Order: sequence, then C-alpha cells, then structure tokens
Amino acid sequence: MFRSHRQAFLDHMEDGDIALFQGANHMVRNHDVDFPFRQQSGFWYLTGLPEADGALMLAKGVEGVAEETLFVLPRDPAKETWHGRRLGPEGAMEKLGFADARENDEFPEVALSAMQKAKRVWCRLGEQAELDAFVLESLSAIRKQTRLGLTPPSAVLDPGPVLDELRLFKSEGELNLMRRAAAVSAEAHMLAMAQCNPGFYEHQLEALLHFTFRNHGCNDAGWAYPSIVASGANACILHYTDNNQACADGDLVLIDAGGEFQHYAADITRCFPVNGTFSPAQRAVYQVVLDAQIAAVDAVRAGNPFHDIHDLASLKLCEGLVSLGVVKTSVEEAMETGSFRKWTIHNTSHWIGLDVHDCGAYRFDGVSRPLEPGMVLTVEPGLYFSPDDDSIPSELRGIGVRIEDDIHVTGGTPENLTVATPKAIADVEQACAAERLAPPTLESAGI
Ligand code: GLY
Ligand code: MN
Ligand code: MN
Repeated sequence: MFRSHRQAFLDHMEDGDIALFQGANHMVRNHDVDFPFRQQSGFWYLTGLPEADGALMLAKGVEGVAEETLFVLPRDPAKETWHGRRLGPEGAMEKLGFADARENDEFPEVALSAMQKAKRVWCRLGEQAELDAFVLESLSAIRKQTRLGLTPPSAVLDPGPVLDELRLFKSEGELNLMRRAAAVSAEAHMLAMAQCNPGFYEHQLEALLHFTFRNHGCNDAGWAYPSIVASGANACILHYTDNNQACADGDLVLIDAGGEFQHYAADITRCFPVNGTFSPAQRAVYQVVLDAQIAAVDAVRAGNPFHDIHDLASLKLCEGLVSLGVVKTSVEEAMETGSFRKWTIHNTSHWIGLDVHDCGAYRFDGVSRPLEPGMVLTVEPGLYFSPDDDSIPSELRGIGVRIEDDIHVTGGTPENLTVATPKAIADVEQACAAERLAPPTLESAGI
C-alpha cells in the first residue's frame, strides 16, 4: 500500500525532481513524559514508518540518486532498552519494503548532494522549522557554488496539493482499514448505549468507548479525536470534552466518538436516552435530524457537488424547525435569510481518512467539486436548543441532537461505513435495553 502511494507521488514528479518529507518528532507533554507518538499523516501515507525522527527522499531521474530513500533512527541497544525497539535501516528495508534506507543523521549530506543535482525540489515549507532551515540553507549554499559548475534547483514546489488529492481517494486497502475503524466504533457506541443508566457519569461512558477502541487494537490512545460525551444541555456545546457530569434521568446523551485503526479514523455521533426511552420532545427533534441525515446520506452519489449534501440537509432541518414551532416564518423565508442557522450551527460534512478532518480541496475556483468514487465524507446534521433560548417552545430547551455517519462514495448506492451503529429510534431504544453488564465499581475492584 505505502509503496503504491509513493509511486503515485512519483508519477507527479518530473525528471530531475527530488522530494523531501519529514516525519513527526516526539513532543513533550510534561517533565520526562512525551505525548503518545502519532506519525504525521502524510508521512505515514508514504512510508508506514511507526517511528519518530524519520525523513523520506524521493528522486526521479536524478543521476546517482536512489528513487526512494528512507531515513530512520539508528539501532541503539541502550536506547532501545529504555524506549523501545527500532527498525534501523536494515529493518526498514526488510519490513517496510524500501529499496534504500539509511540512518537519519545521513539525511543532511545525502539530501544536499541530491539537491546539488536536482532541477526542482518538492518540499512543504512553513510546517516543520527544521526542514525549512535545511532546505533554505542548502539552496543558499548551492547558489554560492555556481562558479564550480553547480546549477541550483530552479523551483521549490509544495507537495501538499498533490499529496492531499492522492489521500482524498481511498484504495480498497484503505477502505478496509476504515471499515474496521467503523466496526470497532459502532461496537463502542452500542456498549455505551447498553451500559448507560441514570447516574452513570459521562467519563464512565468515555471509558467504555476507549476500552472498546483499545480492546480491538486501535492505535495510541485508541481514539481518532477526543471523545465527546455530552449529556443533557452539554450536547449544545459542539466540542464538549469535559465529560465529567452525571447523566440525568430524562436527558439524552450525545456521543461523538470514533476509533483510529492503523491511523484511519472513524467519526460517529449518536444520541440516546439515559433511561432508555425518548420523551415526546426528544423523539420529535431526533426524528427531524434523522430524516435530514438519511436524505443527505442518500445524496452522497458520484457527480453531486459536495455542498449539495449540506444544502439538502439544511433544507430538511429548516422544514423540521418550522414543524417544531421553532422557526416561525415560512421555510422559504428562513432559507432565504438563514435565520434557522442559529439552531443548526455547523456544516454537514468533511472528508475523513488518515485525519478525522481529512485533507483535500472542497472547491475548485470557488465552485463546489463533484463527488467521485473513492472519496469518504461524514454526514452529520444536528439541532441544538440552548437551555436559555426563550424564543423556542420550552420543552425543546436543552436538547441537542447530532447524527453522524461516514459515507463512501461509490459508483452507485452510497456505502455507509458506520451503518452498524443503531440510528432509527426503535433500534436505539433496543440497543439501550440490551443486557447491562454491571460495570466494575471502585469497591468491587477492591480499591
Ligand atoms: N468529531 C468531530 C467532527 O464531527 O467533525
Ligand atoms: Mn465529523
Ligand atoms: Mn464527529
């Protein structure tokens, strides 16, 4: 998979080009403790290297320069005893299938030598200070050597748009990883639905989600983004991650959570009643969002412009807001003025892949791009009624509902990767009524 990704990038290079990429480094969290290591997504896409401090050089038709060279940390028994195993150059060639791999302290010399011969250099400036400095200093040094017969590279090109466009179209191998992330995440949501009871804390639901992610081998902390577990009116805070309140009888819980499997994300939102049964007001709001979501998912078809998904979801939500008595004008007027957006707030979709908000252009020359097979996007309309919004019927205040699935654009019917997560009201209530295993308590765990 990674080799074919490199080949696809090489196909965009011209004879005489080299391309330089730098991986992620460790980041300090607090004294002597690093954040869990997460490879930079573009670098992972090209290399599959699970280690820090890596670099990659690709070259096309540059005499004496290998087509691909991976630079990795050297083997070091003492450091590996403390911090973990390293592939080393031999391991990188053997396990990752690189034709050429070297220790990373060779990068400056090897890359400078290649730049001296290259016509153009692909390098994303402005993201990694170390790489920026290397490229700029190398260009400056080469320009000073023109009397020795060196011709400096005539252009520095940004690999970002090419790489982003490649990543936007998922191969079958990538889709299988996303299907796995989606299946694990569906199970996590169902476990939370089954376990929740009045008095259960949001962080206890979060723990069940993260248990499921890790239990099925999702990487690092397990999640693709910090989980949102928002009971009651907390659901009206879009990126609520405090997750420290008790779930109250009669409230809904909104969970926006997805695992990350071999670096590929799932992104699922579901809402369910703490006591297992939707109240009439909750049911009415939920059904509006559900109808909008189902209509929008069905529109995820090749040829439809990306923004049509949002426009359709917005129309359905607006119609629902009129029927709920929230919007007091006609649908046409509310659509015209945008007055209904106070309760819908956010957009409906984003690309998803190695990043939960994945790369890839949404418009070309200001025009929404048409969907194409191989793209994957979320569909996630929502309605949010603040508890202190006295312009709306009182029974709606404090209700927040979002429903989110991950949809693969095919040549025909859209493939819902997250379809296993209950969504219809009856299915959600059934999942809430599933057998509840007694969660371990501090007392029963003997602490
Ligand atoms: N979980 C972030 C989002 O839904 O976009
Ligand atoms: Mn999302
Ligand atoms: Mn989400």
